Order: sequence, then structure tokens, then C-alpha cells
Amino acid sequence: MTRIALIGAGVVGSSWSFVFARAGFEVALYDADLASAERVPAFVRTAAASFETLGLVLPESAETIAARVKPAKSIEDALAGVDYVQESVPERLPIKIELYRTLDSLAAPQVVLASSTSGLPASAFTESMATRERCLVVHPINPPHLIPLVEIVPSPWTKLDVVERAQGLMLRIGQSPIQLRREINGFVVNRLQSALLGEAFRLVEDGIVDAEEVDRAIADGLGLRWSFMGPFQTIDLNAKTGIAEYCRNLGPMYHALAKEQADPRPWSDELVATIEDTLRKRTSAADIPAKQRWRDDFLAKLVDFKRR
Ligand SMILES: NC(=O)c1ccc[n+]([C@@H]2O[C@H](COP(=O)([O-])OP(=O)(O)OC[C@H]3O[C@@H](n4cnc5c(N)ncnc54)[C@H](O)[C@@H]3O)[C@@H](O)[C@H]2O)c1
Repeated sequence: MTRIALIGAGVVGSSWSFVFARAGFEVALYDADLASAERVPAFVRTAAASFETLGLVLPESAETIAARVKPAKSIEDALAGVDYVQESVPERLPIKIELYRTLDSLAAPQVVLASSTSGLPASAFTESMATRERCLVVHPINPPHLIPLVEIVPSPWTKLDVVERAQGLMLRIGQSPIQLRREINGFVVNRLQSALLGEAFRLVEDGIVDAEEVDRAIADGLGLRWSFMGPFQTIDLNAKTGIAEYCRNLGPMYHALAKEQADPRPWSDELVATIEDTLRKRTSAADIPAKQRWRDDFLAKLVDFKRR
């Protein structure tokens, strides 16, 4: 496979273009708005050039990588000669249902249809398709050209072979896939994030610490290890003989804490305003775009450091 199709050229589709082109694939890019697709080669050139400026490893020049991304005038043109489609159209069920109905008849039967959806299970928009067994979710963490993790989520009717092909392709393009055994709301990453955010909001609401201190608890504490190993490996290495000893010692404490955390609370407007006040002292609203560029450069260097 040397050519893939991307459908939807917004935030995520643009970043996917860089990922696939960097890995040597010809990228046929279709968007309902042609102008959006036509902007993507320049996005890829700029993103790749900023890697070069930061001194990060790229297999080829920014120009060569960007030249592989080709906007397509029609969905039929985009699908010609591909075995894999990564769909990144808006997170709205009617749009996905309509698009998958079109792909059902237009895409050759061997073509894998993968959705970038953040939270819709593939079963919600593929159920009535004749060829639904070739559909699944391949959920990136935005932006995928900086963050390698992807969540591969089969629907109840996705064929195993399709899951394996998606997994193999993600490895080949340098991403880091995890495979969910079945559909679940929020997949894995957002479920983990939800548990942490729920507690972060609670700690501020109860006046224990402010938002800046919660952020530091992660950035200067837990997050340092989490950027190269997960919570299980962390606790495995925090007891002389590993995880079983850790759980014997601290399992009851965590169980008691989990009971205190069991009542989910809505994030009230007042609480959000308090947290926003703290955050705006660190970064004014006008400085957010510059801070986002700082974050992306930092991420790129961190990922490059880990790869080395
Ligand atoms: N933005 C994120 O942080 C993020 C992260 C992970 C996954 N996702 C998922 O990726 C998908 C895309 O999100 P996004 O943020 O890139 O959205 P976006 O709004 O930036 O881009 C969507 C693009 O799809 C195009 N489009 C709309 N209808 C279309 C159609 N029928 N055919 C072809 N193109 C069409 C639009 O013109 C637009 O360019 C969503 O399912 C979203 O949940 C987003």
C-alpha cells in the first residue's frame, strides 16, 4: 500500500496528512469544501519546516513530504487505487451516517474505512451498511503528527482482519496503537482523562488547592513519569517487589479514596469562572495562540527525544 485517502481536511485531517506523507504515502485528500483541502499541502510544509527549525528528525525535506498531499476534486478521485480511508468529518452523527452510506457503494470492498471520531462508536453510523464489517474507529489524539497514540475500536461487526490491517498500518506510519476489545463510551484515553479532570475540578471546588497548583501537581509531579510510562508501570516500580506489594500496601487507601470520589459533579459555571481567572493570570486570552505554538514545539521535541 502506497496511497491512502483522507476524507475531511479540518484540524485532524490536516494533521493526518502530515503523518501519512511523512511515512512515504501518497495522500489523496477530499473535503466537501475544496478550498479546505487545498490549504493542507501548505499546512504540511509549514509543520514539517518547523520540525526542521527545531532540529528534529524528518526522513525527507518539508517540500518532498508536502508534495505527497494531493487535494482531490471528488470523493471518487480520492478513492481511486486506495486500500485505506481515514475519515475526519465533523463529529455529527447525520454527517457520518450520510458519508458512510456513500462510501458503502463507492469504496471497493477491500478498502478499510476508519473513522477519527472522538466519541461516536462505529456501530452508530455503520449499522445499515452492506459492507459494515470493514468499518472501525481509529481515534487519534490531536494533533496526530505530534502525539503518536491512536485508539483502535472495532464495532461488534468489524472483521478481525480489518482490525489487524489498521493496527499494522498505524505501526508502519510510526503511530502507537492500542486495540480496544469492544466499543465503550469515551474509549480509553477520554475515560482516563475524565477520571482525572473530575478530581481536579473537585479539589478546586472544595478549596483544597487552586488550578495552578493542580496543574503543577501533574506537570512537576505525576506527569513527569506519565510522559514515558503509564500508571501501572509507575506503581510496579514504586515497591521493592512490584505491583502486588504496592497494592497490598496501598490498595485499601485507594479504595477508600475512590469511595470519596464516587459522586460525579457537574462543572458549575461559577467553578469554571474561578479556574479561568487563575489560568488567565498565567496566559492572557490574547496570548493563547502563542502558547499553543509553544506547546506544540515542546511536544515535538519531547516526542523526538523519546524516539531517540
Ligand atoms: N479536533 C480534535 O481535537 C479531535 C481529536 C480527535 C478526533 N477528532 C475527530 O476528528 C473528526 C474531525 O474533527 P476536526 O476537529 O478535524 O473537525 P473540523 O471541523 O476541523 O474538520 C472537518 C472537515 O470536514 C469537512 N466536511 C464536512 N462534511 C463533509 C463531508 N460530508 N465530506 C467531506 N468533508 C466534509 C469540513 O469542510 C471540514 O473541513 C471528528 O470526528 C472529531 O471528533 C477531533
